[in-house]
Amino acid sequence: MAEQTLTNLTREEQRFEPPADLAEHANVKEEAYARANADRAAFWAEAAERLDWGREWDQVLDWSNPPFAKWFVGGTLNASVNCVDRHVAAGNGGRVALHWVGEPDADTRSITYAQLKAEVSRAANALTALGVRKGDRVAIYMPMIPEAVVAMLACARLGAPHTVVFGGFSADALASRIIDCGARVVITADGGYRRGAPSALKPAVDEAVEKTGEMVRNVVVVRRTGQDVAWYPTEEGGRDVWWHDVVDGASADHTPEMHDSEHPLYVMYTSGTTGKPKGILHTTGGYLVGTSFTHWEVFDLKPQTDVYWCTADVGWVTGHSYMVYGPLANGATQVMYEGTPEKGRWWKIVQDYRVTILYTAPTAIRTFMKQGREIPDGFDLSSLRLLGSVGEPINPAAYVWYHEVIGGSRCPIVDTWWQTETGQIMISHLPGVTAGKPGSAMKALPGVVVDVVDDDARPVAQGNSGYLVLREPWPAMLRTLWGDDERFKETYWSRWEGLYFAGDGAKLDEDGDLWLLGRVDDVMNVSGHRLSTAEIESALVSHPAVAEAAVVGAADPTTGQAVCAFVILRDRATPAEGGVGGADLGEELRRHVAKEIGPIAKPRQVMVVPELPKTRSGKILRRLLKDVAEHREVGDVTTLADSTVMDLIKSASPSSKEE
Ligand code: WTA
Repeated sequence: MAEQTLTNLTREEQRFEPPADLAEHANVKEEAYARANADRAAFWAEAAERLDWGREWDQVLDWSNPPFAKWFVGGTLNASVNCVDRHVAAGNGGRVALHWVGEPDADTRSITYAQLKAEVSRAANALTALGVRKGDRVAIYMPMIPEAVVAMLACARLGAPHTVVFGGFSADALASRIIDCGARVVITADGGYRRGAPSALKPAVDEAVEKTGEMVRNVVVVRRTGQDVAWYPTEEGGRDVWWHDVVDGASADHTPEMHDSEHPLYVMYTSGTTGKPKGILHTTGGYLVGTSFTHWEVFDLKPQTDVYWCTADVGWVTGHSYMVYGPLANGATQVMYEGTPEKGRWWKIVQDYRVTILYTAPTAIRTFMKQGREIPDGFDLSSLRLLGSVGEPINPAAYVWYHEVIGGSRCPIVDTWWQTETGQIMISHLPGVTAGKPGSAMKALPGVVVDVVDDDARPVAQGNSGYLVLREPWPAMLRTLWGDDERFKETYWSRWEGLYFAGDGAKLDEDGDLWLLGRVDDVMNVSGHRLSTAEIESALVSHPAVAEAAVVGAADPTTGQAVCAFVILRDRATPAEGGVGGADLGEELRRHVAKEIGPIAKPRQVMVVPELPKTRSGKILRRLLKDVAEHREVGDVTTLADSTVMDLIKSASPSSKEE
């Protein structure tokens, strides 16, 4: 692929060296790369020794039947014991596991590992009493409350795979997931708090369960908001039971069974290129090794002193790997927050709980940039020592802002690339080793083998772009798609023999460092030149008037595709004050992109919009913007966090007004 246009993702030349003190005491040092290269199996076996096993494995990796991997073959363990009981047994029962912060101000709870163990045991006993057996599937549809974590760990304890469905999904989405994995029990709440008001969850469960016939035996409901809910009592042949009725009175003693290393731990649904969501299957041993080790490695976790906060919702993979399983297996003390990023609230939480490690997404960082630095500047953020980013490429402007304003120019930033499918972080800085380069996720972690290849699977030379692939299996890799081995092979392993195709484009820079360029379906082809949406978005947000940008390639009769940009302006950058005249703003931004990247990248259209269509995890749904840019009826909006956004965009967009 000849892609001169991809060579300028940024002209940012700054480097941020690891702080000397962190480097000296880092959990993982530079030698790890060589050690992992020399013997990858031994490297992961050593990582596995950090966990408690019922029975030691016979074989680290069985890759005799690719792409179906088995890790720690013959070993047995219990994920819940590793996340909870063993910390109590080691004398750390008094350590806080979760500092939970509710959305209503005064609503807080701090839960120690000993308390968590008791609660998980009660929930496991309660689920057993409801007839949940090893192998049964349980759907969890909950707000960000401690019971969500307890429910997951109770399922893991019993060997009942959970499928957590994000609370912002519709009843239909919930129903299709329940049906696909055949869940027998649903755990939910009456509602949760969103933007200051109770927001019901139970009605969606009722509606979903109606669609699933006889499949769901019980619905367990946590009382969170106290709002009225329809109720179908079991005494009358219904299915509803209150969490407090079945869990609170249950015994706090529960003897866990050790499960096979390859026993299914959970199914997480994620969208694919077709309409049907894919059920990503993660199993127990490898997943727990991969997540706990990388959490300790990448965040340099010191469990006695750190207060870690991952802002992801439990309904997404980041909530699974880096809020529940990784950190708890490591005995971390963490913050869990119920609400959304309102002005100032996050920084008050960092200040109040003396948070040391913050892991969040670029979209949140750009939202804070838009609100202005005086908000975080009003809080004491001096406890922070390390910052993380995940979910999309972090543009250099956001990276530098995060580093300076939130990190006080002293905290390393780890830009972590991974996927629902990979289960664990694959590419990242090592905070005590790697000098930060704004915008680059740097290198594969020790024990992970990535490559950037061209259409014929040939590795590209430094300075070039191509497709990101994984060459070797890794412990937390997905094992298959639930009930669909064929689709698993077809989706990830069929493009090139023996390579996992991640679906992302990447560039290898002159130093051999990786720059993620977004999904390859987000890569445009304009007049035969390949352009990355991420590259143009990065250029747009480097303009002082722009807070956020999304770029799509829209069909164009002469150039194949044309670049269409949707931008949100900064709060104070009104056309008058920002120095860019209203009608001229589009032209100004087009010129700016041309200047930053080259005339080829100049957007055909720049549309100023009040919002961008995003999923709750912050991913921009470009396909909807493409519909607008191509004057089509807007497609399926069910995964949007706010389904009214498309109406706002359409009314702001001149192209659709012309119709
Ligand atoms: C993107 C979220 C650039 C990428 C953990 C990947 C990133 C998809 C990064 C997976 C990053 C995630 N830099 N892009 N640091 N992290 N992505 O499954 O396109 O929700 O394929 O997992 O997000 O999204 P998923």
